[in-house]
Amino acid sequence: MVAEGTRAGGELPPAFVIAALEPRHAAHAATLHLAGQPGTFLSSLGPGVLTALYTALPSTRAGFGWVALDGDAAPRGFVAATVGVGRLFVEIGTTRLGTLLPPLLAQLARHPALLGRTAQTLLYPLLVRNDAAARRSEQPAAELLAIMVEPAWRSRGIGARLLARLLDDCRARGVRTLEVTVDAGNDGARRFYHRHGFGAARAFVLYGRPMLHLRRAV
Ligand SMILES: CC(C)(COP(=O)(O)OP(=O)(O)OC[C@H]1O[C@@H](n2cnc3c(N)ncnc32)[C@H](O)[C@@H]1OP(=O)(O)O)[C@@H](O)C(=O)NCCC(=O)NCCS
Repeated sequence: MVAEGTRAGGELPPAFVIAALEPRHAAHAATLHLAGQPGTFLSSLGPGVLTALYTALPSTRAGFGWVALDGDAAPRGFVAATVGVGRLFVEIGTTRLGTLLPPLLAQLARHPALLGRTAQTLLYPLLVRNDAAARRSEQPAAELLAIMVEPAWRSRGIGARLLARLLDDCRARGVRTLEVTVDAGNDGARRFYHRHGFGAARAFVLYGRPMLHLRRAV
């Protein structure tokens, strides 16, 4: 069971709640993403692309997420997941391309070197699921795409509460396994996932960096 509550980082305010991620939270989710994962590929796409992605994600059938709300203040953290990265890409590509493409093309025009990494991202579903036989025998899985807590609000159990709510959501959707890819050099995130029962499934290279694919039972 995932730990809840507060500890050394300070009490969470009484108005603090975990609520469903909605398109109106997208700009704040993008800001949290940029603060939580500086220097990564998705962050290099900039706030416009990230905002478009987090606007699209909760509007799809394949994507879902939760935000940590402190009353009317901006979200202090969020978690985003999908029941299938490939399905999510297809859904966003077919229904939301109009909002995603302009900021993406503008950023690629400014930084053409990002083109290769964008292509790798589109191939990511194949990287993590390249064994068709294993895929057929697997139980329904979801993938945690991002979990970010505002730096000043970390170590108060917000990450644990977001993950607990996501796991409840997964159970309600009939998902049996939750997976996540983490940069092998992200020690804090690896500790967080390890504490919450994730174990290594496989290692691979993405964007020229060593990555770990982790999973746990839901
Ligand atoms: C990973 C991350 C989401 C965890 O969020 P968080 O709110 O700090 O998580 P928690 O408070 O539940 O746990 C983190 C720490 O607080 C401690 N903690 C756990 N439960 C706690 C509680 N109820 N109250 C206070 N502290 C707690 C833990 O011991 C942990 O300490 P450690 O980092 O020394 O191991 C956050 O660190 C983050 O945003 N990181 C940057 C983005 C990132 O790398 N995301 C993962 C890849 S997508």
